[in-house]
Amino acid sequence: MTVSPQLRTQAYINGKWVDAQSGKTFVVTNPATGERIADVPDLSEEEVLGAVKAAEDAFPVWSATSPKHRQDTLMKFFNLMLERTEELSRLITLENGKPLADATGEHKYSASFMEWFASEAVRTYGDVIPSTIPGLRNLVIKQPIGVVGIITPWNFPSAMITRKIGPALAAGCTCVIKAPSDTPLSAMALMEIAEQAGIPAGVLNLVTSRNSRMVAKVLCEHPVIKKVSFTGSTGVGKQLMQQSSSTLKKLSMELGGNAPFIVFDDADVDEAVKGALIAKFRSSGQTCVCANRLFIQDKVYDEFTTKLTAAVEKFVVGNGLDAGVTHGPLIHDRAVAKVVEHVEDAVSKGAKVTVGGKAGKGNFYEPTVLVDVPISALVSKDETFGPLAPCYRFSTEEEVMKLANDTEFGLAGYFYSRDIGRVWRVAEAMETGMVCANSGVLSQATIPFGGIKESGFGKEGSKYGMDDYQITKLVLMGGLGTRY
Ligand code: SIN
Repeated sequence: MTVSPQLRTQAYINGKWVDAQSGKTFVVTNPATGERIADVPDLSEEEVLGAVKAAEDAFPVWSATSPKHRQDTLMKFFNLMLERTEELSRLITLENGKPLADATGEHKYSASFMEWFASEAVRTYGDVIPSTIPGLRNLVIKQPIGVVGIITPWNFPSAMITRKIGPALAAGCTCVIKAPSDTPLSAMALMEIAEQAGIPAGVLNLVTSRNSRMVAKVLCEHPVIKKVSFTGSTGVGKQLMQQSSSTLKKLSMELGGNAPFIVFDDADVDEAVKGALIAKFRSSGQTCVCANRLFIQDKVYDEFTTKLTAAVEKFVVGNGLDAGVTHGPLIHDRAVAKVVEHVEDAVSKGAKVTVGGKAGKGNFYEPTVLVDVPISALVSKDETFGPLAPCYRFSTEEEVMKLANDTEFGLAGYFYSRDIGRVWRVAEAMETGMVCANSGVLSQATIPFGGIKESGFGKEGSKYGMDDYQITKLVLMGGLGTRY
């Protein structure tokens, strides 16, 4: 696949498209074919520091623009994204591998964050609080937190960036974004759109480097950066928290999951199968909210697993740009190796493969269903991040809630039941930041996305999504005189 002439392949600092001064680059490949798509700059620490300086210098001007101006700019950004839907969706498929229909879904999801936060820009209300001390007035105002460091993953090359720059820009913050090394091209396209939307130089800066640790260290330790927003693994999140402690930075952490997906006896089994196809196999299982453990109650176990197997057999695995392909490759060989490990471990402990179970050529792994999985299997504790649906059997609600919550993670959880009492009980008992009752779909710009436990903290999207990019300041007023 040749690179289109207008494809951006450079970093974007202070309104300029730049290569590394050293001339060093690293390669971006298509995970479906292994072909080289582009060479992108391998920036040095000095160059990353230059991006921080640009964001620092741009902050006074951008933060002083009116909320209405920021709203209009974000709406321009949104409209420009939609005008380029076809091209930018193909770019997502090219660098990430997800099928074009999924990539188009991601592109629109990505744009929707700009639209949502355009509206939030003008709603950053403060408060007036009655004073307990006579003669005083207590006002609360919201202000942009300052320069924000943003680190995003490869599984949503576009949407994880807009989910963070949307609220940052709306609040009046400036940003240094670390593009994912596997998928930096969608991030570059977003910077081009930012330029066209009239976002001034220095407000958004995009850095690329093979040395992710170096960039993360700069963003976490630099005193100018007031907040870091990270989406990625729990292990890396913990390291970033440690690094950020030297400057007590405000953090948002959207980390790993181990989502339970529970099907109770009273569920609509066909709906539960449909939900599992999305919750488990979306992006070939490579999302933080993907179901990782499927618990099915005795009475419906055989029906559910048979129907799930039949549905998975219909998947068409291949290059996401080819017509009819429903599931693409995994991002790289390490991701495939993890699925292999989880399947082999479960099978060695007694699980049976009903569909899939084999690695293909390159980065492909067949979408797989395992039945009779014992709770001792590795996959019960460890997020696969791949197309593997391990099905466990359970008898009672109490038993399954213990199993579902027996994990240090708490991002998303799913369950199917038509008993309204059970719906409330389970929703309240499930230890996750997001609970889906009778749905396998959850992602929207309007919801507070985020986890609890070791899945992190902070909410992205929704009316709560602005909070992390603002400070809440008290302005107390005295000396106001007496009433007439
Ligand atoms: C993620 O995998 O981190 C995000 C998933 C989503 O927004 O749907």
